[in-house]
This record gives sequence, C-alpha cells and structure tokens, in this order.
Amino acid sequence: MAKLRVCLCFSVIGLLLSGTAEAQAPISRNDTDRANALLKEMTTEEKIGQLNQPFYLKLPITGMKIDPVAYEDRVRRGEVGSFLFLTDPKEINRLQKIAMTEQRLHIPILFGFDVIHGFDTEFPVPLAMAASWDPAMAEQAQGIAAEEAAHAGLRWSFAPMLDIARDPRWGRISEGAGEDPYLGAAMARAQVRGFQGTPENPRPFMATLKHFAGYGAAEGGRDYDAVYIPEERMQNVYLPPFRAGVEAGADTVMSAYMDLNDVPASGNIHLLRDILRTELGFKGFVVSDAFAVGSLVTQGFARDSTDAALRGATAGVNMDMGSATYLERMKSLLDQGQLTLTQLDDLVRPILVAKYRLGLFENPYADATEQTHAEMLAKHRQIARVAATRSVVLLRNEGDLLPLAKTTKRIAVIGPLGNSKGDMNGPWSLTAKAEDAVSVFEGIRAKLPGSQVAYAGGVQIAKAFPSSFDGLIGPKIQTPWTPEEADRQMKSALQLAGKSDVVIMALGELTIMDFEYSSRSSLSLPGKQQELLEKIQALGKPIVLLLFSTRPLDLSWASEHIPAIMDCYFGGTETGNAVADLLVGDAVPGGKLPVTWPRAVGQIPIYYAHTTSHKPYDSPEFTSRYWDAPTSPLYPFGYGLSYSTFSISDLRLSTKTAPLDGSITATVTVANTGARAADEVVQIYLHQRFGSASRPVRELKGFRRVTLQPGQKQEISFTVGPAERTYWSAAKNGWVAESSNFDVWVGNSSTATLHESFSVVQ
Ligand code: BGC
Repeated sequence: MAKLRVCLCFSVIGLLLSGTAEAQAPISRNDTDRANALLKEMTTEEKIGQLNQPFYLKLPITGMKIDPVAYEDRVRRGEVGSFLFLTDPKEINRLQKIAMTEQRLHIPILFGFDVIHGFDTEFPVPLAMAASWDPAMAEQAQGIAAEEAAHAGLRWSFAPMLDIARDPRWGRISEGAGEDPYLGAAMARAQVRGFQGTPENPRPFMATLKHFAGYGAAEGGRDYDAVYIPEERMQNVYLPPFRAGVEAGADTVMSAYMDLNDVPASGNIHLLRDILRTELGFKGFVVSDAFAVGSLVTQGFARDSTDAALRGATAGVNMDMGSATYLERMKSLLDQGQLTLTQLDDLVRPILVAKYRLGLFENPYADATEQTHAEMLAKHRQIARVAATRSVVLLRNEGDLLPLAKTTKRIAVIGPLGNSKGDMNGPWSLTAKAEDAVSVFEGIRAKLPGSQVAYAGGVQIAKAFPSSFDGLIGPKIQTPWTPEEADRQMKSALQLAGKSDVVIMALGELTIMDFEYSSRSSLSLPGKQQELLEKIQALGKPIVLLLFSTRPLDLSWASEHIPAIMDCYFGGTETGNAVADLLVGDAVPGGKLPVTWPRAVGQIPIYYAHTTSHKPYDSPEFTSRYWDAPTSPLYPFGYGLSYSTFSISDLRLSTKTAPLDGSITATVTVANTGARAADEVVQIYLHQRFGSASRPVRELKGFRRVTLQPGQKQEISFTVGPAERTYWSAAKNGWVAESSNFDVWVGNSSTATLHESFSVVQ
C-alpha cells in the first residue's frame, strides 16, 4: 500500500485541518510595543501583580483566600492583574477607579467571569447549543452574552469549554459540545467569534478555551480525576476544538486541573509549551483553573508552594487564578535566580497586550446601572426563545402524539421540574435571576389560555451532598418531605393525571447535578421519578416526557412505554415558552444528539466513532457484546426526530478516484416530504478502510442545518479533501493523509445508510 506522510509544519496542518477556519486575529504590533514600553516602567512586584487573579467572592468555599477588606489595598499596590467573580458594575467601577487613579502606573484591572451561556439572559446550556447543530446561533448567543457582561464591566469570559466528553457520568458534560471533535471544533469557532468578534470586526471582550486539555476524559467520570490520553487520541479527538479555537483568535486558554498522563495540566510543560504554544501556535495568555497552581502541591507534584510557582511559571501559566501562589512566592524565585526577569516579562507581556487590545486603558469602566438587567432581558428574550426551541431534541413521537392540538382541554403538568424556574436557567447561570426564567407550567399556561392547565410535583429530587453552590446554581434544594407528605404528593399527582386529557411530565435532574464536582454513578432518573412515571403511565393517558438534564439518562423503560419524549436540556430563561412552542407545533424540533445515548451505565464509554474489532458488531459470533444488553446505544449520535419527514437521497460523488492532494464533492438531495416547514440536519460521515492505523468506523466530516417548506428540495454538497482525510497516526508519529479506499455516508444521524465509496491514489 502506498502511503504519503504529509510533512507539513504544525501551523500549516492546523489550517489544513480546520478547513473553514478564519485566520487567527493578529496581535497588533502597536499593542505589543505599548506592552513592552510599559514593562520597562514596571517594578518586579508590579509585574508579579499582573499575574495575580484573586477571587472576589463571598462564598464559604474551603481553601479560598477571600479578604474583601484587603481588595482595595491590593489594587492600590498593583497586586491585582484581574479579578474573577465580581459582577456588580458599581463595585467594578469603584475598584477600577482606584487602579486608574491611585495605583502608580494606572494599569486597569481585567474583570473576568464564567459567562458560560448567558449573563442577564440565559441561553441553552452549551451541550444544548451543540444539539442545535447551529454554530451561527451559538455565535449569536455568545455575542449577546458578551454584550450583556461587558455592560456590567466584564471583559472576559471563562468560556467556551471545549472538553470532549464521552462519559455522561461526568456532570460537566453539560458545558461542552459533546463527544465529537468535528462538531466540537465548529462550536468552538462559533463561540470564540461570538465572544470576541472577528478580526475585521473585533469586540472588546475575551474568550477562554478551557480546560486545556483532556479534562473530559476523567477516569470513572469522576470530576478532577486523572486522565490518560495517548498522543493519537489527544491529537485526533481532544485537541481539534482547541486548535479551532486558537485559529479563531481566542485570547486566552485555561489550563486544566487534572493529571494528564500523570503530570498535572497546570504544570505540564509538554502540554502548555510543546502542544499549545509550538504546535497550536497560541499567542495569548494562559490562566490556570481556580487554585490549580497552588494545587500542584496537593497533587503530589510540587514540593511546596514556591516550587508550585516555579513549575506553573515554567510550564507557561501566565495568570494564577485564585491561589495567590505567584504573588506570594515568585519574588523569592527571582531573587534566587530560579526564574529570570526575561521569563517574568514573557509571562506578563501577553496580559498587558490583552488589556491594550481590549482598549481597557482608554475605556476601563462599566457603563451599566442596575436597571439595565431588565433592559437587556427585554432586548434578548426573543432570541433566547428561538435558541431554546432549536436546541431541543425530539427522541420519540409514537402515533404522532406531538404536536398537541391547541384545543386540548385539560393538561396536567407533572414532575419536580414542571414548575421550576431556577433550574431552567441551567448550571453556571450565576448572574441570571430565577424569577426571570419561565417554567414549563408557566409557558404552557401562557400558550394555551383557553385550556385548563394544572400542576403537581408528585415527587422530589433528593439532595445528594452539601454544596456551597446550593441556591446559586439552581434553586435551593428542598428538605425531604415526610413519608406522609410524599404519599400525599404522589396521590395528588396521580389524581390530576387521571382527570386530564394529556400529561406533560417534566422529569430529570436538578441543575446542580449537571455542574462541577457533580458526577453520578447511575444514569437513572434520580429519586422516585421513575416510579412516578410508571404509575402515571399505568393510568393509560397520553404522556409527553420532557427531560431536563444535560447528561443522557437511562430511558430504556420510557423509550418503550412513553409515546413522546423530548430532550430539553436546560434551555435558559425562555425554556418554558420554548417548550410550549414545540408542544403545540408553533416551533418544530430540529435538534440532534451531540452525544451517544447509552441504554445503561454499563455501556460507558460509548461513542459512535469507535474503531472496529476483529469481528464487527454484525458478525454472528465472537463479537464484542454484552450478555445482558445490546452493544448498540439507545439513541445514536446525530439522531433527532421532527414533526415533518425528510428524504435524503441521490448521493453523488464528483469523482470515484482522487489524488492525495485532491478533493471529492459529495452531493445529496434533501426534501421535506411532510406537511410542515421544518429543519433537517444533513450529516456526512467518512471511513478510511485501511492505512497506517485503524480508523473509526465513521467520523463526522460536515453538517448543514436547513429549513425546508413542505415539498421543498435542496441540494447539499460537502467537500471531502485532504483536511477531512488527515489524521494523527501513531505508527507514523505524525499527521498523515493516505492513499486508501473510503466510505461515505450521508443522512440525518450517525447511522445513516445512504452510502458511496471512493479511492485516493498517489
Ligand atoms: C472551574 C472553571 C471555572 C473556574 C472559575 C473552576 O472550578 O473548573 O471552569 O472557570 O472555576 O469559576
């Protein structure tokens, strides 16, 4: 077999792989010159101060050094490069004024915050955004989030999270784009553009690519646990979204907490220098995850905090989030010659460059007053509603139960999440207000004023463990009902269901269960929700199950017994209205799963882009199989139904044979064969049959979400060129595009059957 090793330098490979990526925003000479000039004026202490990012937070979180009284003095002395978690514009302006007038060199403070999926207006959580398969919408949403946050004086979001996640036990699966590097890269690019604007039209706001890198592969799905990722998987699966984010011009990267191949990410020279700076060509600055520099000691890596400062700095962590280790220890490292002034300047320079790029020196203050929250919300609610409808995935719709007739008389909304407002905002919505969010019950009532809509909780979702974020991430978790109360609540839910024409069940997880340090060992519906569902199903009423959770839950029973199921994630402020739009057909579901949905927790990890074994799954014997469950998932990656029907047909390749540096074009015709205007997501998957390494059975290489009127047809073309065929080969220890035979499938999920093949020859 003839193979060609593509010998290109890494940055060229980056452009090749990204295909459509825009060129990285050039760092302006002017900003660098200004930063260099300022560096000449600064004392060593002032330089170290720029590397320090204290929390401004009054939460009782163990280990945090919070001292609000000392904030002012620290600012005055130039010991604060950035604050995180302060979101009150008045306090931002007060501290900024001290920096701009009382601090020796008047260097503005950079205020950063976790603006993950909204600020005043919450948009769907990032995994839901990915389920929309609509990067343009994600870009728009993050643009709005940046606008709202900037209004309050923030200039920096710790998003997007780009961690590929193939384990739904991990609570932070909610923050990323799911399991696939191609979809992840598309969402990465879009979010960076949303936050920062484009090179032609930059926005004075910064994105953070996090958590660099591999954080989503924690063993057992346990947050913070070690990850072991071989080079080929790192390059082919975990890095593509980061590569795309760097190419889109992201100003900052956050180094992760966990051990990557036994070396903590925030002290990992190979990761932060060889990969991030040299291979990916990142030119901005690295901020550690919270306390991660200090944690190098806890993780059994650094001898003490002085050593931690040295290891973080040497690895290239520019800013120390939270731990104050640089502030307290770096001077002694310089005095002892363990760190040079040139190294210090190299750490500080990109932070100053970023401040110049943002225009902070000229425009340091927030212009917001407290009233603007309502104004922002009024301006952006409608877009959030559209975003929330576009993110929902319809998993099942037997007998076309959905959409419901608007004339439905008696509607029961049942379940612990049916009238929750705060949970609908989703995790990491710390500045959104619960009262602004629309619950499912409210949304349906507003949509159908002529119907009798009633609500009963039925059961509670139990408190799992204490958390400082209880009440901040979602509503405060209720104390458990007494057995008598639990019995009464269950009975009244059953009674309500019994006298209704249709039951809308709102089940799932509390927002706080889809958060940091919130892993689960089971994927069952928590608490007694399954029991409630089965009891209500036994009444024989038509049931629509609305699932609120980001991780896929064990729906094996529901997927056989409940006729209509919609995966709603957490849709943000407008969740209830969006769900109501979808229930009655004022909007049509068009989202697709960004993660493979397992049947049971024992199947994890499960993802569509696996390699094949010596016996493919459809072999009669000696296959990789379970005794007690099929190997296949409950719902495949890329899957989602509509109220309309579509045909995708007539797959044509521009050529059946292409040269190594050539491309083929795959074209299909997609037609709306149903009676409603609706969206379909057309997806193309590729498989390389042989080469220097075994390749996944399928890999997503393109997608397009289109809206078609009833009867309307559209031709869609995808290019499969060297970029789509290039991968990191362990055997070659580098990037290769090889001559081989390839399969192509185009359809509306990862199980698409419309197939063609072509060859690439040297
Ligand atoms: C999280 C980061 C977050 C930071 C600041 C950390 O615990 O891992 O994602 O940006 O806190 O809130």
